[in-house]
Amino acid sequence: ASPDKHKYDHLFKIVLIGDSGVGKSNLLSRFTRNIFTHDEKSTIGVEFATRIIGITDERDESASVRIKAQVWDTAGQERYRAITNAYYRGALGALLVLDITSNKQTTFDNAARWLRELNDHADSEIVVLVIGNKSDLESGPRLITAEEIQEFASAYKHPYIETSALDGSNVDEAFKSVVEKIY
Ligand code: GTP
Ligand code: MG
Repeated sequence: ASPDKHKYDHLFKIVLIGDSGVGKSNLLSRFTRNIFTHDEKSTIGVEFATRIIGITDERDESASVRIKAQVWDTAGQERYRAITNAYYRGALGALLVLDITSNKQTTFDNAARWLRELNDHADSEIVVLVIGNKSDLESGPRLITAEEIQEFASAYKHPYIETSALDGSNVDEAFKSVVEKIY
């Protein structure tokens, strides 16, 4: 390995938010370690993991910038949550994760609550991406359409992307798009 492997130009803190079971921890492990776990094991407290990714500088297309994404993950369940203020402190990006196989009404009610919490605790300039996770279950138990989530996200002027932590589709793209937008 080259001695420069761990060098980076900027460190961005990004937080994962969303209900219990939507796949936050698996998106994190897929992105940082390329690992997926089938068993259900709710996060207790707070964890974080990092990965350095290269992006190109919009102002100078020949320049590559190395960003260390420090991604924080906590429990969707209230009783296991980390201290809210510390979790959001210094966060430049947030991924609001929804599960496309969950109940529609509950999902959107709770998503609005997550955005209110962001509004109350995070920097007003924070970059938000809405994620519809578990796209691999498209033809099975899907209960929320892409259009419905798109509509929800647009109402808040946030972009939307579908991912699967299971097969890995769009996971890197989701994190990368947030990092690029922050930069
Ligand atoms: P909390 O820690 O309780 O807030 O949940 P979480 O949002 O971290 O969810 P977690 O990553 O633990 O995933 C919950 C369950 O969904 C696990 O059984 C995962 O294997 C499964 N899961 C996560 N992502 C996907 C996905 O993209 N596709 C499918 N099919 N299952 C997934
Ligand atoms: Mg978790």
